[in-house]
Amino acid sequence: MMEKEQMLKIKGLGGKKTLSGSVTISGSKNAVLPAIASALLFKNPVRYTNVPDIEDVHRSFELLEALGCSVSPSKRHSVTITCSGNKTRLTEEISKRMRASILFVAPLLATRGEVTFPHPGGCVIGERPIDIFIDNFKKMGATCKESKHSYTLKTGGSGLKGAELFFRIQSVTGTSAFIMAGVVAKGETVIRNAAMEPEIIHLADFLNTVGAKITGAGTPTIRIRGTGMVRKNGATYVTPPDRLEAGSFLILGALAAKSLKIEKCNPEELHSLIERLELSGVSVKIGKHDLLVSAPKKTCKAVDIKTHEYPGFPTDLQAPMVVFLTACKGEAKVFETIFEGRLSYTEDLVRMGANINLWNQREATVVGPSTLRARELWGPDIRAGLAYVIAGIIAKGESTIHNVYYIDRGYENIEEKLQNIGVVIDRIKA
Ligand code: EPZ
Repeated sequence: MMEKEQMLKIKGLGGKKTLSGSVTISGSKNAVLPAIASALLFKNPVRYTNVPDIEDVHRSFELLEALGCSVSPSKRHSVTITCSGNKTRLTEEISKRMRASILFVAPLLATRGEVTFPHPGGCVIGERPIDIFIDNFKKMGATCKESKHSYTLKTGGSGLKGAELFFRIQSVTGTSAFIMAGVVAKGETVIRNAAMEPEIIHLADFLNTVGAKITGAGTPTIRIRGTGMVRKNGATYVTPPDRLEAGSFLILGALAAKSLKIEKCNPEELHSLIERLELSGVSVKIGKHDLLVSAPKKTCKAVDIKTHEYPGFPTDLQAPMVVFLTACKGEAKVFETIFEGRLSYTEDLVRMGANINLWNQREATVVGPSTLRARELWGPDIRAGLAYVIAGIIAKGESTIHNVYYIDRGYENIEEKLQNIGVVIDRIKA
């Protein structure tokens, strides 16, 4: 079922830098989604805390419930998940709306010997193949049958076998998937050219606390010794703060804040963004679990952005950063190396008055500073949707942003957090 159309109406500041106060960062979407999928590896209940109240988490709970698992919310932002049953088919309607549904394939295949799933949906930011998953499950002994709409993987009773894997591309969910597969597979699994995002480390650390034997998370080579399904009782996963939400608010603060404190975040995970902002003339005060930022009086200097696997500049902050660049003096080159379809939102910023040239699917130049004018916009994905919110906040006039479901996929209570720091924003239910 599709959510009823909702819109965000934003009264732009027209260049004024008046935002102030503090924002508390919610739990990380991209950390908690693989951790929720890993509940399928457990024989006993698993407790999750600091879980963000976002659409992708709700869809993940629905996927698990459709597989026979129980999801019992306790206090706010906490749930207990107990997985049982032998269903092996991922619900198509949900999987088509969330790329992260691919995270459920590995634990299902590893523990139930079979899984059927559609090509995952989610943000349209490129072709997003799943060859790394299919090829490497085969290396671990699975067979794959592909039909027009779905794939069925089977281990044929003997279960997954540990294997030496090499990822042709560093895939974040691919790395999480094969860590989970390796925990249950017989023998040792080695992943070479693994992704090094913090979310990988969070997953490995959690699984190691309940008996898994995973080494090398956060490096390009990860080794997992097969220890079978997790039987430990009382496992608890504490969701770390969302580095992408923190980065999005840091960019907003650099553009339009008198003084903005970003609380309950992990500055250690944001050095690539902080380095670019400081080079452009923004000063960021770094605390242990917080950041303090104010928009500089002087117009910032344009700085080039090249997205890169972690610890390089995150592709998920590219769109919000391009909005920042529209307010900088000079020409900035933007090179999106991860996804080939992740710059198409720039045409809407041009409609708002930005001076952006899109040279090809991966490269653009932004010439600033330009004053953005309010517009009616349709967010195409989670991060471009948030970029439109930031653009609407700095623009002159009142903007309307549609497809709020996409923003709610990755950001909890976005309008409330923004209202609390001085943004005039309302959610309108059509
Ligand atoms: C994760 O997606 C994140 N999602 C994305 O965040 C993030 O943009 C991306 O990593 C890159 O950092 C989650 O963690 C839930 P990839 P993922 O596999 O794992 C290609 C957000 O807004 N590839 O690391 O799907 C792929 O097309 C979302 O929170 C293959 O070719 O990304 C891309 O070009 C958006 N074959 C590159 O690898 C495969 O089998 C990196 O993708 C898999 C991936």
